[in-house]
Amino acid sequence: MSEHAIEVILNGEPVQAIVEGRRTLVDFIRLDAGKTGTHIGCEHGVCGACTVMLDGEAVRACLMLAVQADGRQVRTLEGVADADGTFSRVQQAMREEHGLQCGFCTPGVVMTLTAMTEANPQVSEEELTDAICGHLCRCTGYQGILRVVKRLTGAAT
Ligand code: FES
Ligand code: FES
Repeated sequence: MSEHAIEVILNGEPVQAIVEGRRTLVDFIRLDAGKTGTHIGCEHGVCGACTVMLDGEAVRACLMLAVQADGRQVRTLEGVADADGTFSRVQQAMREEHGLQCGFCTPGVVMTLTAMTEANPQVSEEELTDAICGHLCRCTGYQGILRVVKRLTGAAT
């Protein structure tokens, strides 16, 4: 069994841990760092629930190893709102457009939308819709989430 000392910058704070080589990034986030806003669904890259940002890009944390995040910036749902708790633009849109019901898929959806809109504030409705295709939601019928996309891209009527 191989063990590795890693340090991940998680939501701006360094987190050190000794992890097995096989430890997934999502298990590191939830079990070692105690940030349970990131959810685990399928555990094989299909549902999108575990999506976090790695150096600004949306990634599936169930498909990555914790050691791959050593020395890198990871952002989770807990790092999306302002320090005073004010919702981000994406969170506010999710709230106002009823983009969630049970909330299980929601952290992943928020992280993908956050990564896309921060990387390109002019991102198109088509690009955002395409990006959230990788997120399975068993509750909303997707209509609320698509309204969020419209709002974020200025396409809301
Ligand atoms: S838990 Fe990672 S994609 Fe489903
Ligand atoms: S809000 Fe329940 S799975 Fe999406």
